[in-house]
Amino acid sequence: MSIAKPLPHDAAKLHVTGAARYIDDVPIPAGSLHLAFGLSEVARGQITSMDLSAVRAAEGVVEVLVADDLPFANDVSPSAHDEPLLSDGTVHYVGQPIFLVIAKGHLAARKAARLGKIEIEEETPILTVEEALAADSRFENGPRIWAKGDVVPALDAAPHRLTGSFELGGQEHFYLEGQAALALPQENGDMVVQSSTQHPTEIQHKVAEALGIPMHGVRCEVRRMGGGFGGKESQGNALAVACAVAARATGRACKMRYDRDDDMMITGKRHDFRIDYDVGFDADGSVHAVDFTQYTRCGWAMDLSLPVADRAMLHADNAYDLPAARITSHRLKTNTQSATAFRGFGGPQGVLGIERVMDAVAHELGLDPVAVRRRNYYPEMGAAAEADDLGAAAHVSDLGAAALEGDAPSPAGISAQKTGTTPYGMEVTDFILDGMTDALLVTSDYEVRRREIAAWNAQQTILKRGIAFSPVKFGISFTLTHLNQAGALVHVYQDGSIHLNHGGTEMGQGLFQKVAQVAASRFGVPLETVKITATDTGKVPNTSATAASSGSDLNGMAVMQACDVIRARMTEALALDAAVGADAVRFEDGEVHVGERVMSFAEAASFAYQSRVSLSATGFYKTPDLSWDRIKGQGRPFFYFAQGCAVTEVVIDTLTGENRILRADILHDAGASLNPALDIGQVEGGYVQGAGWLTTEELVWDDKGRLRTHAPSTYKIPACSDRPDVFNVALWDAPNPAQTIYRSKAVGEPPFMLGISAYLALSDAVGSCGPNYPDLQAPATAEEVLAAVRRTRG
Ligand code: MTE
Ligand code: MOS
Repeated sequence: MSIAKPLPHDAAKLHVTGAARYIDDVPIPAGSLHLAFGLSEVARGQITSMDLSAVRAAEGVVEVLVADDLPFANDVSPSAHDEPLLSDGTVHYVGQPIFLVIAKGHLAARKAARLGKIEIEEETPILTVEEALAADSRFENGPRIWAKGDVVPALDAAPHRLTGSFELGGQEHFYLEGQAALALPQENGDMVVQSSTQHPTEIQHKVAEALGIPMHGVRCEVRRMGGGFGGKESQGNALAVACAVAARATGRACKMRYDRDDDMMITGKRHDFRIDYDVGFDADGSVHAVDFTQYTRCGWAMDLSLPVADRAMLHADNAYDLPAARITSHRLKTNTQSATAFRGFGGPQGVLGIERVMDAVAHELGLDPVAVRRRNYYPEMGAAAEADDLGAAAHVSDLGAAALEGDAPSPAGISAQKTGTTPYGMEVTDFILDGMTDALLVTSDYEVRRREIAAWNAQQTILKRGIAFSPVKFGISFTLTHLNQAGALVHVYQDGSIHLNHGGTEMGQGLFQKVAQVAASRFGVPLETVKITATDTGKVPNTSATAASSGSDLNGMAVMQACDVIRARMTEALALDAAVGADAVRFEDGEVHVGERVMSFAEAASFAYQSRVSLSATGFYKTPDLSWDRIKGQGRPFFYFAQGCAVTEVVIDTLTGENRILRADILHDAGASLNPALDIGQVEGGYVQGAGWLTTEELVWDDKGRLRTHAPSTYKIPACSDRPDVFNVALWDAPNPAQTIYRSKAVGEPPFMLGISAYLALSDAVGSCGPNYPDLQAPATAEEVLAAVRRTRG
């Protein structure tokens, strides 16, 4: 069995030797052309004149296109048709493409793109949350509001109450491979597009619209991305469409890639938020009610902002059973890049909201933040049944085993206030964080270290340490229910080798390896027998984006189904030939047992071919049990919840605000892991990326709407040296109660939110400096930590 083995990434050797092929490495036909966009330098206004003569005259330029030259749809939006490829006369942000240069070389195209003389009648841009609210500039008519229970009376009746407001910044994806596409014109006006995209079907669809041809005239191929992180769900459309239009116009292959600065200026990022909260709680930290108002800057185009903002609302509870909650979400339209999908898809912002509330409540009451969190946890899976069967006493004694001495959490699931139901009306039946938290507090030695840090801080005047715990519970499924489907195409050749395709894309997360493991297991063959080639819309049609962490859940199932169809056909033919029952045929260890007979898998495949058995099949899967009304905010949007928890320790310098992560301990739930090595890689990478979001990664726009941090010189992602010195990552290896592929759980996004423990640890360290709540804003850059130290001292 290849399942559950910690095998390396299938392309690991290619990655580290530089042999892995990305779009820019694909050999291109002689005479291929290269593209670059001319960009707006103004955030908002109307184009009054355009003089592109110098662009056209520049060396190597073959053609220059503006909006009027586009033959069909001038639209690269994934949602509301509000995103022209080239400006239609109005400009909406600094960096918006206005014209397209087609040249003989990449550099020639880029140089010429700087030569456009464009006059724009400037209007006052809407940049901030406050400006957008004042102008009522938003997507959808008003705020979206979801509620559970009666929040206002519950807040009024609570013994304690706190209000606050904080800001959390956006994030640049910083995929190592920038956006890139290559279009190869075919006979008859057809087009083949290679794209660095998480969403080949979307590329096919937008290219077909732009060329005015049916989808069958366009084929999109994706072997791999050098990272996507959500930034290649919709943001690759512009390049692919530009290449296709230019290839149609010139009859030549056309390639486009953004240099890093252009990529950061043009493409969308994580949504930044301001979150206001009003929370009512009692003396032991039990939350009675929370009222959240989330304001998010969506940028100039709708893009994926509505589902992102929805998911921020859906994760406003995180791991906590809130008796009453109201979440109000303002989706604000601003003259900045179109904020887009980014690992967690709004979830991290929602989770940070409630974690920040828990932090504030614990500080207010002077309680251990872990105890406050556990008091508010959802009921543990099976806890209700246990309480029924054994009586409450047995359940309470279980909880006595909790690692927090003298601070046993109130018995979850028995508290009268708890409902076990999310603010959107979904019952939480698979909550396992109590057990995970117990285990992590022991392995991380939390209690002892917390006391030791307090003692150390009391001795120190300049350096202060902090420690914090945070959990994550993340809903798995696309909230747009119809996207929860996948297809596969599997061939067994007569030599016994297996070739397959599925609808998912590989972006470094290891999806191809996991899916290959599934196929190898179904046929009982070694992994080397299975080959997965580039994702191709001509092989598996109508795919969803590889997103929402559901790649292996969906495509693993579709591949399993296709394999099982072929295996059943082979079984039938073999059983008939040997005059045995189908149950006497077994596929294992590269062999096929037919009654007493044993043959290699290759012999069995050859026999099936000779017997005229079809050795090719498609597979299909759709996630069961989903129903969701996003307008009401009610239903069952998720198939199950993936969970995890982390303890992070940091040290800060109170004179400079500089800080480091000293140690992180993580316990993450990947169900019965398909591949523990890849899953641990996802947990490590997710944590570091999440911590980067909340610490060093800062996006700064000036008052003209220009992004000032558009290169690694000014935008700081975590480096290897920022990885915690001590980094203990383990998987909580328990099968998913939901019927997923081999009972595994999705792992791509959830661990991102464990980086929140780093932010909370910084808050803890700052909090040791004085009596006030640190009120730390995110990202907690050195400057912000320094400011928070001052606030704390008062
Ligand atoms: N891991 C790597 N190495 N590179 C990536 O681009 N994207 C993340 C996550 N892990 C990403 C990654 C995001 S945003 C998602 S939604 C999932 O992988 C998508 O892949 P999956 O569904 O197969 O987990
Ligand atoms: Mo991931 S943000 O769902 O691509």
